[in-house]
Amino acid sequence: MKPVAIATWRFGLATCEEAMKHLLSGATALDAVERGIRVTEDDPEIDTVGYGGAPNAEGIVELDAAIMWGPGRRLGAVSGLRDIAEAISVARLVLENTPHCLLTGIGARDFAIANGFKPRNMLTPESKARWEEWKKTGIANESHDTVCVLALDKNGDLCAGTSTSGIRYKMPGRVGDSPLVGCGLYCDNAVGAAAATGQGEDIMRYAMSFRIVEEMRRGHSPMEACRNTMEWAVTDDPRMRNRISCVIALGKDGQWGAAASKKGFTVATGGTDEVQQLEIDPV
Ligand code: GLY
Repeated sequence: MKPVAIATWRFGLATCEEAMKHLLSGATALDAVERGIRVTEDDPEIDTVGYGGAPNAEGIVELDAAIMWGPGRRLGAVSGLRDIAEAISVARLVLENTPHCLLTGIGARDFAIANGFKPRNMLTPESKARWEEWKKTGIANESHDTVCVLALDKNGDLCAGTSTSGIRYKMPGRVGDSPLVGCGLYCDNAVGAAAATGQGEDIMRYAMSFRIVEEMRRGHSPMEACRNTMEWAVTDDPRMRNRISCVIALGKDGQWGAAASKKGFTVATGGTDEVQQLEIDPV
């Protein structure tokens, strides 16, 4: 099986390149997804994921992340994770080392620290300055771009992962779609994987990732499944065209798909050729 990876947004280029590097040297899709997402989480310039991610209304960074591994349909997730940048790796440890699927808040933080993750100040000087400006003016950049990665490895196994700081200056305790199975991500090793980015409240109301995988199970290509699902949602609630929601999918055969409610979405895809970046037309 030829390995394939797909990742969200412009920063997904480096993420996808890292995932492909691991896939092409024989790593599992589980390893490739984690390693790819870590590139984004560790980059302080990316202000929607990991270290340097946007804080909540009280100036505290609360991260959401999840990873779903096709073999055994295994899932690990964290939500509202404070003081730890490597949310995807903590999510993977939930998958591997606990009988649970999702740890939240203080429990997720304590679990991470007990497993050797170092607590740190998650605000960069720039992200702190942006939050202080928002406190004064109430004006914020609307973007809240989640890194999502889907990968297919040489054994034909699939994995999906997500990581985000969520909506900028959100209410403390707000959880988005990214750590929620069926909403921010889904993976069925016999069919395909899907993930979502954008307005979490819209994505979770339509359980988009599960729906996309179910469309693929019924015989639709990943592109048809993404477009059908997004069209269904924006037809049901046309306000979704004013606030971006986006989805990606990867089939068991290596075909991929993507769709967006609004202009501005890009994906990075990698197979045997160089990783490419593509703009996705809105539905
Ligand atoms: N899609 C990320 C969020 O809404 O938190």
